[in-house]
Amino acid sequence: MARRIAILPDAVADQIAAGEVVERPASVVKELLENALDAGATNVRVELENGGKVLIEVSDDGTGMGREDAVLALDRHATSKVRSAADLVGVATFGFRGEALPAIASVSRLTLTTHDADGEGSELAVVGGRLERVAPAARQRGTTVVIRSLFFNTPARRKFLRSAASETRASHEAVATLALAHPNTGFEFYADGTCRLAVPANQDSAERLASVWGRDLAGTLVPVQYAAGAFQVTGFVQRPGDAQPTGRRTQLFVNGRPFKDPFLIRAAEAGYRAAIHPGDRPSIYLRIAVAPEDVDVNVHPAKLEVRFRDRIGVERVVEEAVRAALGSLVAAAAVGDWRPLPDAVGHTWSGSSLQLSDAAQLFDSQEGPSTTEEPYRDSGFHVPIVQVFDSYIMYEGPDGVIIVDQHSAHERVLYEAVMMQLRGVGAPAQRLLLPLTFELTDEELDAFEAHGEELRRLGYEAEAFGGRTVVIHAVPTPHPHFDAGACFKEIVADLARGRFGGWANRLERFAATYACRAAVKAGERLEEREMRELLLQLFATDLPPHDVHGRSTIVQLPREELERRFGRR
Ligand SMILES: Nc1ncnc2c1ncn2[C@@H]1O[C@H](COP(=O)(O)OP(=O)(O)OP(=O)(O)O)[C@@H](O)[C@H]1O
Ligand SMILES: [Mg+2]
Repeated sequence: MARRIAILPDAVADQIAAGEVVERPASVVKELLENALDAGATNVRVELENGGKVLIEVSDDGTGMGREDAVLALDRHATSKVRSAADLVGVATFGFRGEALPAIASVSRLTLTTHDADGEGSELAVVGGRLERVAPAARQRGTTVVIRSLFFNTPARRKFLRSAASETRASHEAVATLALAHPNTGFEFYADGTCRLAVPANQDSAERLASVWGRDLAGTLVPVQYAAGAFQVTGFVQRPGDAQPTGRRTQLFVNGRPFKDPFLIRAAEAGYRAAIHPGDRPSIYLRIAVAPEDVDVNVHPAKLEVRFRDRIGVERVVEEAVRAALGSLVAAAAVGDWRPLPDAVGHTWSGSSLQLSDAAQLFDSQEGPSTTEEPYRDSGFHVPIVQVFDSYIMYEGPDGVIIVDQHSAHERVLYEAVMMQLRGVGAPAQRLLLPLTFELTDEELDAFEAHGEELRRLGYEAEAFGGRTVVIHAVPTPHPHFDAGACFKEIVADLARGRFGGWANRLERFAATYACRAAVKAGERLEEREMRELLLQLFATDLPPHDVHGRSTIVQLPREELERRFGRR
């Protein structure tokens, strides 16, 4: 019987390996830069022509190679970085397989010029994996690798290349990532003669981050520093109020090695909890330190991913680290002192004097004797206030004019009250004389049944009534303009759409949604009494200067600014 199994010739094996390691010019840039950094370079330079389809050149001032080593380096599994399987644990260099150079050489025309400062320099030329020339060459210490006609002998792969602009962008990304990983090394990146990135050597990681991500973005970040159990997390995350739905940047490192992990990014986002709108995506830069034996870096052909031994642990610590970093923000980022002057305020408001039931019944003017007795007279907040555009409340603060967004403020107040209700006994509800009935979809009905307890704590007393009908007997009453039926439908629809999934704390999302639906809207005229109530409730909250979507709640127009504008300064 004829043999059917054969050992592949080396050239074919190399090309197959190359398929995994070298997907596009950006992968070549990444591998060559990693080699340069492993060789201890102080400065590296990358140059592309036509997105790297015509030329990729990477030069460094690292250790360089002697001639024999240089020839060896182009052989498969030739590496100076590990000697045994045990070395793989905690490997500190980017490279460890001895695969990158031969893989790249097998699918391109490669020239390598190198000098290790002993003897003379060397130039090697390889075409499609075949060593064609080894010759002396003049060069200072370091290495230059030039790749021409990438994929010239693998036309299928060449066809997959995208436009020069998009290949350039991918390479730019690869350079930026490694520039962030090595703030000590200077980087230059040129595309068709234009400088795209230039960062000097010897920066610290904050300076490097600002150089690579830009000062504008860097200015919206706050530091992270956290340790728990086996993990340590440092880095920077974006302030909730500055996060946008698009254009964010993320970067993760483990023990100095960049990697990608959407689930860890999600864990970091969970650290924002309700401080951020579900649609907003904060920029995140985190460096994780863990014992070398607790992470496996050899699980992905292009080393883009890693595997943690304690997966759940690392996710939890990342989330906690972000939360801790944002927690201190509440104090740090407050817009001046926005609470009114002490002598403008009576002794009654101090936070603790406001009961939960007050918060829940804010604006509730239908009930109790208090409303008929002008409750604000004793509310202790005596500075004049005014509503503008039916949306903002203005008053004089100690350092300037304070402007409060009424919707955002009320949302914040309701959020805190509702969180307490959800954790505790629940909100006071108002029984309806005529029950409301709703037809729900199947998904909504499931959601309704799964979250009956939370809805009850919000103040909804409701029951399924055969088929898909739900009857509501009692509703929460956050303010007189509140449309309890519409709010119920929206919450149930959100639940059915799974909007609450994936969040570390479902209650917080639930409260945030309810607060947003239930709060007074922009454009609603408020009576002075209502505004005063609202402000008092706001002062009593544990208030970050932004609402549950991360938008500003309070803005201060500083007195100095006014004086400057009127030429008094
Ligand atoms: N720019 C450079 N300066 C000095 N030595 C280099 C340079 N590039 C490669 N080398 C040497 O060539 C060897 C082979 O490089 P190659 O990238 O193929 O493998 P590696 O870096 O060891 O592992 P990996 O395949 O994981 O990248 C390296 O181990 C290193 O000794
Ligand atoms: Mg390498």
